[in-house]
Amino acid sequence: MAKHPSTVPAKPTHDTLTDDVLAGLKKDPKELSPVWFYDELGSFLFDSICELPEYYITRTELQIMQTHAAEMAQHIGPEAAVIELGSGTSLKTRLLLDKLDHPLAYVPVDISREHLFAAAGALAKDYPNLHIVPVCADFTQPFELPQFVRTAQRRIVYFPGSTLGNFDRTHAHALLAQMRDLIGRNGAVLIGIDLYKDRRVLERAYDDAAGVTAEFNLNALRHVNRELGANFDLDAFEHLAVWVEDQSRIEMHLVSKRDQVVRLGGEKIRIASGEHLRTEYCHKYTLEGFSELAATAGLAVRRVWMDPDQLFSVQLLEPARLQ
Ligand code: AVJ
Repeated sequence: MAKHPSTVPAKPTHDTLTDDVLAGLKKDPKELSPVWFYDELGSFLFDSICELPEYYITRTELQIMQTHAAEMAQHIGPEAAVIELGSGTSLKTRLLLDKLDHPLAYVPVDISREHLFAAAGALAKDYPNLHIVPVCADFTQPFELPQFVRTAQRRIVYFPGSTLGNFDRTHAHALLAQMRDLIGRNGAVLIGIDLYKDRRVLERAYDDAAGVTAEFNLNALRHVNRELGANFDLDAFEHLAVWVEDQSRIEMHLVSKRDQVVRLGGEKIRIASGEHLRTEYCHKYTLEGFSELAATAGLAVRRVWMDPDQLFSVQLLEPARLQ
């Protein structure tokens, strides 16, 4: 694996994390960041969600990649440097790499050193001829690409998983603008975007019959208890997935079953019976809506690949040419 300087964000301290969680719990309505889903159990639960019959997202995106990766690779062309936002352990990344014509480099960008190097190591083993250049950075903030990558023929940002949906409009715009900067004038963005659909399909996808998503949602509280010494009672909350039409997003909430007081960082937080704590939202786009959003960041949609039921899309974006 090639060695390159990488941007290393300072690890947030226990106190900063506690302050962040407290700030969210003091909002009205209360909020808890989705990053708390993902400890070891949470990552296992997320993998289980991806296998659920109701959760169409992962399966559908994989199917689109299986069917169309060759065509995507044709559009991308030879000797591209692929910059993936997120650590890229996934099968989707491999499906793309397998079809690319002599890719120059693969650049996973992730805030977690462990995830980054585990993923980079696994890929290095299977792609001995590919330069793998891990960059440890928070991709929602500006970061530097290694010089070697900056000089590539064509830079491609790959952002699968419909993760853009987890950002509100302002932050989604900022992230797309950052991708536009990363690819320069003749690069491209390949992005997974989940599509607007019947709310019942969405509410089932985020509230499955087996209760795995409910357990995943509650696990955020378990994680905060363990990491920050809080005392959330997991039995005192109920999982809720709700479609919010005017925001075009599905939200996950934890609803308090009774009046309760939670202790965290020397403070007491009152939670009323029936009060909601929002843990995640995921925006769903129409093709027109996403194309308009991309345009605000100087990106034009060149190709859209979808499954036959049009549940999900993988879209190729290029810098919009100025007239
Ligand atoms: C893949 C992180 C976008 O919103 O679909 C799955 C996470 N949350 N079930 C999504 C998730 C609840 C997921 N993301």
